[in-house]
Amino acid sequence: MAESESRGQFDVLDGVKVPKLGQERWEQLRTFPLHGDDVFIVSYPKSGTTWAQQIVRLLRNRGREDGQRLDLAMPWIECVGSPGSVQPTSLVDLECLPSPRSFKCHLPYALVPGGLPHTTCAKYIYIARNPKDVCVSFWMQNKRKIDPKERLTWERFFDKFVHGFLPYGSWFDHVLEWWEHKNEKNILFLKYEDLKKNPHRNIQAIAELIGADGVAGELLEEVMTKSSFASMAENPTTNFRWEDGRTFSHEGAFMRKGVVGDWKNYFSPVHSNELDRLYDERMKGSGLEFDFGE
Ligand code: PPS
Repeated sequence: MAESESRGQFDVLDGVKVPKLGQERWEQLRTFPLHGDDVFIVSYPKSGTTWAQQIVRLLRNRGREDGQRLDLAMPWIECVGSPGSVQPTSLVDLECLPSPRSFKCHLPYALVPGGLPHTTCAKYIYIARNPKDVCVSFWMQNKRKIDPKERLTWERFFDKFVHGFLPYGSWFDHVLEWWEHKNEKNILFLKYEDLKKNPHRNIQAIAELIGADGVAGELLEEVMTKSSFASMAENPTTNFRWEDGRTFSHEGAFMRKGVVGDWKNYFSPVHSNELDRLYDERMKGSGLEFDFGE
């Protein structure tokens, strides 16, 4: 079991703030039984998780919309049963989901339910996005929290982001740990910016990982169209409008802009330089690079 403690609204596992579930539930998650056709869509928050989930769903349904809300069709595995979460409410419900199952997950590599990803029979799609756009998207979500006590100023949010004090910890640790395992045969490491630039190639890579055969021509076009930002923003099963008025205010939207480089509208030169410095320090020698937009 990872070293754990409880701090306010969160548990802390291996020094990372994670949803407050308690030690027993974390232990159950660690040994959660997996199937060979399970797919995990994993990311640091605000990196394109929902987009990748919709692609997986469409590939599995051969381009058809099943009309089910995405958060119910593909549960956020570490939040199941946590206070305020929607159905399914227990791990037994999760175990009983019809195969093939898909799960959303924001946990670091070492904490993913079911065991270390390279040792399990499941498949993992990890999607990463440049840290400046992640930080802005995460802050814009924070700004929409209904509870004013939970809203942070940009300065404070930025500070927490660069120091790894937000839920799910440091963007750098998260992304680099997954990057180390990018060559495992059951793991696909994707970048948001690449998916944006070349959706065909990346959708096909996802299809290959999850064993969806013959994804070309009309089917590929259909998956691409139905997973486009415009389509997902209008789609009541993917646009998260159901959260408005509950967790988040009606101002703004979950499907906000969906572009590369929006950070330029929010970062001051000082913030930009600070993150650049950290980025150079942490990413050096990793071989992992991101597109920060024009
Ligand atoms: S969450 O809450 O962590 O699960 O959020 P996540 O889905 O990872 O990320 C939300 C951001 O992804 C954008 N998004 C998309 N961009 C491009 N194309 C598509 N289809 C798409 N779907 C979601 C979404 O708009 C959020 O980014 P921002 O920059 O805030 O617009």
